[in-house]
Amino acid sequence: MTPQESFIYLDHHATTPVDPRVVETMSSWWTTWAANASSISHRAGDWAREAVEAARAEIAEELRCDARELVFTSGATEANNLALKGVLAGRQTQQRLLTAAAEHRSILDPARRLQRQGVDVSVLPVTASGSIDPGRLREAIDLGTTLVSIMWANNEVGTLSEVAEIADLCQQAGVPLHVDASQAAGKLAIRLNELPVNLLSLTAHKFHGPQGIGVLVVRRGELLRPLQPLLDGGGHEQGLRSGTLPVPLVVGMGAALTIAAKERVDDNQRIGALRDQLWNGLQQRVPEVTRNSPASNCLPHNLNIHVGGVDGDVLMMRLKATRLCVSSGAACTSARSEPSHVLRAMGLSDQEARASLRFGLGRFTTAAHIADAIDIIAQTVSDIRNEG
Ligand SMILES: Cc1ncc(COP(=O)(O)O)c(C=O)c1O
Repeated sequence: MTPQESFIYLDHHATTPVDPRVVETMSSWWTTWAANASSISHRAGDWAREAVEAARAEIAEELRCDARELVFTSGATEANNLALKGVLAGRQTQQRLLTAAAEHRSILDPARRLQRQGVDVSVLPVTASGSIDPGRLREAIDLGTTLVSIMWANNEVGTLSEVAEIADLCQQAGVPLHVDASQAAGKLAIRLNELPVNLLSLTAHKFHGPQGIGVLVVRRGELLRPLQPLLDGGGHEQGLRSGTLPVPLVVGMGAALTIAAKERVDDNQRIGALRDQLWNGLQQRVPEVTRNSPASNCLPHNLNIHVGGVDGDVLMMRLKATRLCVSSGAACTSARSEPSHVLRAMGLSDQEARASLRFGLGRFTTAAHIADAIDIIAQTVSDIRNEG
């Protein structure tokens, strides 16, 4: 039995298993056709370059933007850093960044570093459901604002931002907008031809593509000044991201996004129904359970709950000994035993945040997984309560 078969993997916000069709598409680019896409002295290099450009075109088509606007990175952490530091770092004049309290660490941490370097950073509060109120943003935005950065979908509670409204108000104010679409990509239709977003980050491993590859979309237009690269080197990706392109990963990202786009409607419907089944079962079987994630305007595969009357650390420790893989906070921060900053920003206490669980369903989740997950949570919580 493989680990994937023996585990009940419900941590798809952290990462997703690569779709076997994607693995198949990638496989020959590791071995038979392995070449550097920058090599111009042989045919193998040409083929590698053509494969990269085909994947770039595939991704651009899905996002409805120009292929030349894509910069491949190692993932969304790098794409977010490139967006923020590329616009704001090392400038002569005063820079101002507006972002929000429920953003991912790969936004909040570079924002803090930029602040130490003299950038004026405002971290706006979020609503009780975890998204930024466009009205608050409208009040905060001014002529001195250099960049606004918000996430499309939250990685802990799945809340969707009012991206269209925020994009319109940024455009009216003449301020470029960066959107971290890491959790939204593959699940929502992203149509950049209809949305005045200037920078957009995504990462393949959140939509059943490989780990280690992402994209920053840098839209052309007058609003956005030329970005400063994070790395100097061979001048790849129009000078914005030096370094040999990982051909198999690029090919895999293109294949994964194409599959996600084709199957999005069916996947969302099926996974959303399983998520509702999970929530209904937990409500019936686990006393004092409340829902942190919103009932609407939420990613279909997300459920974030709070279990009342149990110690969160004990709950996580006990669950870790089972087949169930769930998270008590963002995987990227769970190495530090801090309560989730997202749940805290939504108004939960430290104790409530610690006793919260995040479920993330995926393409290969089945009704049997959900039934087993409900049993495991109900039994574990009941054991802890009986001991207490
Ligand atoms: C919203 C969000 N942004 C950024 C990232 C970072 O992505 P990557 O793992 O590709 O660096 C994540 C990953 O957890 C995320 O959920």
